[in-house]
Amino acid sequence: MFREEWDYDKFKTRFYGKTGLDLESYKDQQMERRIRHMMQREKCADFHELFIRLSGDADFMQRFMHYITINTSGFFRDPVVFDRIKKNVLDELARNHRKLRFWSVGCANGEEPYTLSIILDELKLLPRAYIMASDFDTRALENARSGVYNERQVDGVPRDLLQKCFAHRDGNYVIDDRYRRKIRFYQENILEMRTENKGPLHLILCRNVFIYFKTAVQERIIHYFSDLLARGSYLVIGCAEYINDPRTFGLQRKYPAIYRKS
Ligand SMILES: C[S@@+](CC[C@H](N)C(=O)[O-])C[C@H]1O[C@@H](n2cnc3c(N)ncnc32)[C@H](O)[C@@H]1O
Repeated sequence: MFREEWDYDKFKTRFYGKTGLDLESYKDQQMERRIRHMMQREKCADFHELFIRLSGDADFMQRFMHYITINTSGFFRDPVVFDRIKKNVLDELARNHRKLRFWSVGCANGEEPYTLSIILDELKLLPRAYIMASDFDTRALENARSGVYNERQVDGVPRDLLQKCFAHRDGNYVIDDRYRRKIRFYQENILEMRTENKGPLHLILCRNVFIYFKTAVQERIIHYFSDLLARGSYLVIGCAEYINDPRTFGLQRKYPAIYRKS
């Protein structure tokens, strides 16, 4: 029987048509290596076979998405950054705005928006807050919505907050509803750069997400974020990420990984 030979480029094009996720925006080397690794594990002979299997098996497609999108996260990840947000950023925002709008982009299993919610509660700002939290990966979003974490996942939560903010149930930790109520979790592909129901925003957390994208794509996304931010509002990126010339985007570097819209 005739077998079609597909290279990675052909797979990317067909995958985009099928799912709307443009793998071309991601750094090729990293992404192709990851996909090939999964193909090996799943005993897929080539990209064509992989595509056929993904197209015919929704469960496999969800597992594939979950695998390629890398959901590593943690509560209070990079504590210094959250400390700055708590002590400097939120204080300033609360003085200047009555209602506060936040967006956690690439929120993975929810650790990041829940951390923000906990901090806002400590500052008594939670009633004034609205937090959006989005990710492309539906399985990660299911975990985030459930708010259930194992012992290892809550590693970064200080002991006192673990007791205060979580219920200990069947060996797991369940986030209290007061922190969940303020968060709207939803699926969105950041590469689509949608503007409806977004701005003006006061704080965007996009940490350890665009590190996977090609430079030109990263730049487009930073422009997009800057347009969504109100003046004097903030963009927080991952500690391993860097914005080369923030002024090009109307931003100013205030602290490591924290940028202020001019
Ligand atoms: C490494 S995690 C970062 C989690 C969290 N922001 C943190 O720093 O701890 C990256 C997240 O970005 C999400 N992601 C990757 N590509 C995406 C896209 N095109 N649109 C939305 N989310 C995406 C992944 O699903 C994953 O949950």
